[in-house]
Amino acid sequence: MKFFLDTANVEKIREFAEMGIVDGVTTNPSLIAKEGRNFEEVIKEITQIVDGPISAEVTKDTANEMVSEAESLASIHDNIVIKIPMTKEGIKATNMLAKKGIKVNMTLVFSPAQALLAAKAGARYISPFVGRLDDISHIGTELLISIREILDNYDFECEIIAASIRNPLHVVEAARIGVDIATIPPAVMEQLFKHPLTDIGIERFKKDWESVFGK
Ligand code: G3P
Repeated sequence: MKFFLDTANVEKIREFAEMGIVDGVTTNPSLIAKEGRNFEEVIKEITQIVDGPISAEVTKDTANEMVSEAESLASIHDNIVIKIPMTKEGIKATNMLAKKGIKVNMTLVFSPAQALLAAKAGARYISPFVGRLDDISHIGTELLISIREILDNYDFECEIIAASIRNPLHVVEAARIGVDIATIPPAVMEQLFKHPLTDIGIERFKKDWESVFGK
């Protein structure tokens, strides 16, 4: 399973990338705005830290506008993947970009039907939003199961990115389902490391050692 970081914070990206556990990065307009920095500058910096797919999202509404925005973002670095929202215009833009060899990550996917449309249009990645479905009392991970099943029936060259991850259980469930990628916010990445019994175990080993051999 690949781990992407869902953030535009370069310090956090650097911290986890140094551990060798980051295969890519996803950003969105909210995450970029949170950093309060120049969009292209941040994206460029991220490409220098992580050698893998880096998603940058378009902000325009029509297919033609999205394509020209995408072309300019794609020119920043070969690893740039264009995040396109799941709309009719977005599907049209995805198809146009796929034909030009520009990779698309179709975002804001909330149903199996939307995922199927994205795959058909030529999206290289599909991002179902697990947490936001949970927020409205749907079981977000069930969407992952459906999309996995659909993609496994055909030969689409398309990977699933479990997005809107809110807790470690989302990551573990995505892995059990066989989802290709989880894009994980830094706070959830931190939580993945933790288990109280690990801390207690380390403390006990240390105490036993020191009781015989000293510090
Ligand atoms: O980048 C898309 C997605 O991961 C956003 O997550 O927590 O804003 O629903 P969230």
